[in-house]
Amino acid sequence: MKTIDSDKARRLLEGIGQGHLLTFWGELTPEQRGRLLEQIQQLDVRNIPRWVRETVKNEKPLVVPTEFEPAPSYPPVPQTPEQEKKYAQAKQIGEKLLREGKVAGFVVAGGQGTRLGFDGPKGNYPVSPIKKKTLFRIFAESVAAARKKYGAVLPWLIMTSPLNHKETVETFEVNNYFGLGKDTVFLFQQGTLPNFDFEGRIFLAEKDTIAVSPDGHGGSLKALYSSGVLAEMKKLGVEYLSYWQIDNPLVQLFDPLFLGLHVMEGAGMSSKALIKAHPLEKVGNFCLVNGRVTVIEYSDLPDEQARRRNPDGSLVFELGSIAIHILSREFVERLNADGDFALPLHRAVKKIPHIDLATGKKVNPDKPCGIKLETFIFDALPLSEKSVILQTIRSEEFAPVKNASGEDSPAVTERMMIERAASWLEKAGVKVPRTTDGRADCVLEMAPSFALTAEDVKANIHKVPPIRPGDTVYLE
Ligand code: UD1
Repeated sequence: MKTIDSDKARRLLEGIGQGHLLTFWGELTPEQRGRLLEQIQQLDVRNIPRWVRETVKNEKPLVVPTEFEPAPSYPPVPQTPEQEKKYAQAKQIGEKLLREGKVAGFVVAGGQGTRLGFDGPKGNYPVSPIKKKTLFRIFAESVAAARKKYGAVLPWLIMTSPLNHKETVETFEVNNYFGLGKDTVFLFQQGTLPNFDFEGRIFLAEKDTIAVSPDGHGGSLKALYSSGVLAEMKKLGVEYLSYWQIDNPLVQLFDPLFLGLHVMEGAGMSSKALIKAHPLEKVGNFCLVNGRVTVIEYSDLPDEQARRRNPDGSLVFELGSIAIHILSREFVERLNADGDFALPLHRAVKKIPHIDLATGKKVNPDKPCGIKLETFIFDALPLSEKSVILQTIRSEEFAPVKNASGEDSPAVTERMMIERAASWLEKAGVKVPRTTDGRADCVLEMAPSFALTAEDVKANIHKVPPIRPGDTVYLE
């Protein structure tokens, strides 16, 4: 595409109140001017005035529903004979889809991981207890093990962002795509949205660079489409995407039961949920709004609703979102056809480094000075007429690495990886030493090649040595 000229750029920008982006035009080299024009061309000029009006300058841009009820869900294990039958059938359907290669894994990895204080793609963070495998390696080994288990090439999709794409590709190149085959791993970038000051003016990050940030994990739906990866999946016969976040090494990448329930119910997008640890746990709440599954953010659910209890003591709104989903390929295609992926914009007040327009100097603010805009994947749930929620068990499937210490920290994740391995071994009849307070008294690491689920352990039980207190045991 031909880049626009500076007169046209000026007219466009002035028309939407963003003419200041050319403040330093006179100082720029021809090369810098070219770069800036390219960025201006990529701005969504048609929508920016609306974003400024509705979201940047509006502290409460999104209407929180007032009428909502708890969303129904499937329990982690069947509770009745009918449910038992349904789960068995669903599992068979899911396994068949996997054997037929109709499922791709899809991890979103475009975030910044600022809270963890780790430089570079979060997927390069080492998490496993003994081998210190990175998140990317654990997922890669899980994909490989699933391919072997189901005898099919299950493609792996990885969404990055301009913040980390290059380094992520490098990681995969250096590691020879972890042996998965370069042509079966699809790395693609999400889009960005401009950063604004409180008056609605877009920041300059440099004199020749517009300040932008990734458009949130909701941007994954658009990026699947615009990158051409969705069309590629169609060609390969992939019908379902199994979606997870980069920070959770316990996730079951391809869960036949979850897949099968999604298909049996004719859902477009489905979710796994956890019973919240306490009423105000900082996870989204699964609710029904106008009959559609909707996630209401913890910050938007009134405390008295969050604390409401059923007669049996359980929370009325007990289901927390852990960002594990199944998406039907056709559902994502339809989102494009129907509405240009128009997910609502969320507003985050942030510290945004920028160029001071008066002095031309770089400002590294020590307090929030502007607005970043993001879309969230779970806002696509109400666009799906049918949507399944399957409960999962925290110790089995959710140990995200988010913070450097305390809750959701690497230390907690490592402990949970050890405890899950211990419980899987015990289920298969292995004796695991325990401390008086019930913790595994050994360091265990189970490679995905050893077992992807508790049931897989039996087939490899002969590889397990006797485990004594204090032992370090790696199983592969
Ligand atoms: C998120 C969810 C929360 C859920 C929790 C589970 C939101 C707003 N909240 O919280 O409901 O309980 O995870 O762990 O999502 N990402 C991108 N591109 C972006 C932004 C994020 O790919 O532009 C990816 C990240 O790489 C990561 C995931 O999305 O894999 C989650 O992002 P993060 O910002 O860490 O979400 P949380 O606030 O932890």
